[in-house]
Parts: sequence; C-alpha cells; structure tokens
Amino acid sequence: MSNSIPNIKSYEESYSNFSWDIPRTELGYSDGNTINIGEYCSDRICKLGYADKLALIWEGFTGEVRKFTFNDIRVFANTIANFLKNLGLNPGDRVCLFMDKVSELYFGFLGILKMGGIAQPLFSAFGPESLFTRLDDAKTSAIITQKKHLHKVRATINDLPSLKHIIVVDDDGTKPLKEREIAFHMEKEERIEKFDSYPSKAETPSVLHYTSGTTGKPKGAQHVHYSIISQYISAKYALDLKEDDIYWCTADPGWVTGTSYGIIGAWANGVTQCVLDAGFKAENWYKFIEKHKVTVWYSAPTAIRAIMKEGNEIVKKFNLSSLRHLASVGEPLNAEAVIWSKEVFGLPFHDTYWQTETGSIVVSNYPEMKIKPGSMGKPFPGITAAIVDLKTFLPIEKKGIVGMIALKPGWPAMFRTYWNNEETYNNKFKNGWYLSGDRASIDEDGYYWFVGRDDDVINTAGHLVGPFEIESALLEHPAVAESAIVGKPDPVNMEVVKAFIALKPGNDPTKMLELEIMNFIRKKLSALAMPQEIEFVDSLPKTRSGKIMRRVLRAKEWGEENGDISTLENDM
Ligand code: PRX
Repeated sequence: MSNSIPNIKSYEESYSNFSWDIPRTELGYSDGNTINIGEYCSDRICKLGYADKLALIWEGFTGEVRKFTFNDIRVFANTIANFLKNLGLNPGDRVCLFMDKVSELYFGFLGILKMGGIAQPLFSAFGPESLFTRLDDAKTSAIITQKKHLHKVRATINDLPSLKHIIVVDDDGTKPLKEREIAFHMEKEERIEKFDSYPSKAETPSVLHYTSGTTGKPKGAQHVHYSIISQYISAKYALDLKEDDIYWCTADPGWVTGTSYGIIGAWANGVTQCVLDAGFKAENWYKFIEKHKVTVWYSAPTAIRAIMKEGNEIVKKFNLSSLRHLASVGEPLNAEAVIWSKEVFGLPFHDTYWQTETGSIVVSNYPEMKIKPGSMGKPFPGITAAIVDLKTFLPIEKKGIVGMIALKPGWPAMFRTYWNNEETYNNKFKNGWYLSGDRASIDEDGYYWFVGRDDDVINTAGHLVGPFEIESALLEHPAVAESAIVGKPDPVNMEVVKAFIALKPGNDPTKMLELEIMNFIRKKLSALAMPQEIEFVDSLPKTRSGKIMRRVLRAKEWGEENGDISTLENDM
C-alpha cells in the first residue's frame, strides 16, 4: 500500500500558497516551450528513469490480462503517430477514436497527440446518428475503430466527404475492407522506436470532447496541450496519486473523465493505471480491485449506488485492503453513499466536481480535509470560484444562498472554445466569470453543495444527454408528430430519459409502438439516450410563442412546483 501522507498536507495552506508555477516547474515547463501531451505522458516519463515501470494493466471481458510499460506505451504511440502521418494526416486534423476500452484506444490517443492531430474520442456505444452529428461538425479526417463498430461508421460515410480514412485495429481479413478503410495491427506494424513529436505549444489544440446542451446539436469543447498542467496537479492533489499507486479510473475515454483522468492525469504523474474493458458487475469490479491490488479508485455515483444495492456481504468475499483513496465524479454523490463506503471499505468516497468544459477538477474533497457527506468540497488550488446570482451574475456574498457556480477563467485545462460555435462559447461568460450552468450554495465553512442543473440537459448515470438531439431523432419516426424529452428521477442512474410524445393522426398509442420507438432511438443514438418511459399525450405544453415547455413536464416528474407558467398556452 502507498504511504499514507497525503500529497497536500493542508488544504487551506495549499490553496493560499498555490501558483500555477508549481506544476509548471514540476513538469519542467516554462513559457514558450513546446508541450505535447503525448510526449509528456510517455517519453518524458521514460527519460525520468521509469521506462520499465508498468503504465497500463489492461483486462478484457474474457479475463485476459495484458501489461504495458511506459516504454511500451511510448513505442506504441509512436507507431500509431507514424502510421497516421504516413496516411497523409496533418497537424490540426481531427482524428476520432471510436472503440471500446481496448489498449489501442489508449495508445491511439497519445499517438494522435504526438503527430499533432486533435483527438476526438467518441463513446463506442453511439449509434450512427450520434456518430454522424459529431463527425460532421468536426469535419473529422480519420476514425480509428474496431470491426464490431464498422457497420455504424459505414452507415455515416456517404455524407461525410472529409472522412478520408477509416482505420480498423482488429481486422482479420475474413471480410474485405471497403473504400477508405485500412487495417492497422499493433503487433504486426514495425515498431517505431523514435518519432519526433509535433512541437505543439501551450495553446495548440489537443482534444475535442462533445457535450450536450439544451438547445442545438452537441458542442465540441476544444482543449489545448497546456491542459496537462491542471490535469497533472489535480490528479496529484485531489486524487492523491503517488508513485507506487495502482490507479483505476472506471470512466470510458469517450467522456472527459476517461481522458483527463483515465489517461493524462495518471500518466503525467508516471502512475500505473488499470483498465477493465468489460461491462459493470459489482462482483467483477471487486475481483478486479483484489486481483490488481488497486490503491486509488475514481468512479461515479451511479456505479457506487449500483454496488451499494448489491449489499455488504458480497464485499466481504474479497480482499480489498489495497484500497487507500476513493473518489467520485459526474453526478451528485449522495451522503448515504459516502457513509456507506466508509462503513464497508473503511474509506469514504471523495466527491469531485468539474465538467467537460473545465477540463480538470475545479471543486473537490481532499484526503486531509474533513468530508461533509453530500458536499462537493472546496475549490481546487488555483481556481477562483463563486456562487453568482442567477439574474445579475454577480457573486453572492451571503452564505447558504443558491446561485450558479461561476469560475474565474484562466486555469490551464479550461476549454478554449466550442468548435465552430464561438457564439455559444461567448454566452458562457458574464461579468468576467465562466458560468457553469449548475446551481449550488456555499456553507459557512466554504463547502459547496450541489443543487441542480440550470438547464434541461439530462444527467443519466453521469452522462449528459441533450433533449434536443433525442427530440430531433424522434421526428424521423413516422408515427411521431412532436415530443418533449425530460429527465425522470431514478434511484440508481439519478435520472433516466422520459419522452412525452404526441402521435400523428391514425397511430394508436400501443405498447408495441412504445417499444418500437424506444428501439428506434437506441439504434440511432445510444442506449443512454433511449427513453426508459414513453407517455403518449394529445398535446404538449407550449409557450404562447410555440416553444415546448419541458420545465413543466419535468416538474411533474419530480413532484415539484411548476414555477412560472404565465406564458403557458395550453394546460396538460
Ligand atoms: O451538472 C454537473 C454534473 O455533470 C456536469 C458535467 O458533465 P460532463 O461535462 O459530462 O462532465 C462530467 C465529468 C467531469 C456538471 O455540469 N456533475 C459533475 N460532477 C458533479 C456533478 N453534479 C454534482 N456533483 C458532482 N460532483
């Protein structure tokens, strides 16, 4: 087990004395230098003398385990970088990663960055329409994928002229590849020992993560190589990563946690990380922790609630004594989950708060700081946070008042724009503050307490789903006249998608039709976006100007007051 002295000994002292020069110096960076995340996470660690240290312990769904050293990930990233370069891809080109959590995903991520490309990770469970929207918006040049996902890529490419290369990492030659498709085999490719990484600078674009908003299509939050400064130091201070840790971040790199802390944060610190490429099952997770002697575990409230549901007895079947620090992100972490984990693991989960846009943890609980179960903790060193009034966007000084979480721009990992969408980006700033869109309050001791989102985006199992994308897809179903998508409370996933649907004349609201519509969305978008419940209605509540008022429907689901309905046109 790692030593028990936390990396930050006193939160208050670290917060007061912090300067971004601390991580810059630790990473050997100064203004004007080149800084390439791919190189920093592999070559740099090897040069520090850790070439033979384990970087990745990977386990597949069959139980197969593969281990890779920092030198392995350096060479494999070089090999992919070289392959992409030889295909004619240029720095600045968007290269999508559309894979399960196979090892190539991790090497590919570093490889794209090494050749100067912009990595665009997408959740492999996305259906063709979700995939198309994001590839079309980013004008992606290449996609790296697996055979099992190829049919979804093929379904999109006719309308994607800029997508020139489809790279298949596990092609076995049984079925011929089609136009634009090319096989890449990590084992069969010539190993590239030396690759000159693209000399990216602090502001060179690095990663493009798509996230959902209330209106419009998903937005690409664009990050830069300088983000590693924040990701490195927050993995060290908030996740408390140390040299001898075995770290497990359960997130998929299709979402920001899986890249900022499932790749960059740990490897920038030279820490060994584990990946389990298998679906969720409490017993398998405990087995995984026991087998690989995981010390630091970063997960999400939905998973924690799911393992809680399986009870305390099952925990006793495993030796989980290697664990020394637990953290969580993505949704409100209920007080009961913190208390429960203290009881069964002897360790509380430490809640951390951040967003795709913030790129790194901005509010957190720290190992040495007293936890108040249910609170997200306090601002990360180097982050100036406040609660601002929902109308004036001015900081609320009085404690305990609910407003919006706002952050002073300027920390290294903050997104630099929304791809092709400067206007929406600019709208996120008021009075010199970045507006998170989340409501919270601060207590007398400076702890932040999450209240809810300030928009209609649904947080299901820690993943944001935009209602607009589902409503648009529903319109393509022949029976649907119009719809409204809202979040409905769920004991495990926090929220699930509920659809209110008005049918076109001549269609009956049958159970069959309900199932057909659900399946329609699952296939087109993803299982996350699929409505778990459909309520057929004659009409939807609208404002006098004809806008559907999701708020009224949502309030009904949550048993809340309707709020201001003075502009409502029709009663439900
Ligand atoms: O609403 C907040 C919620 O997740 C949103 C960000 O989602 P995404 O951009 O997908 O990034 C997720 C992982 C960083 C936030 O705006 N959220 C995130 N962490 C917490 C949270 N809600 C409550 N408590 C948290 N700790």
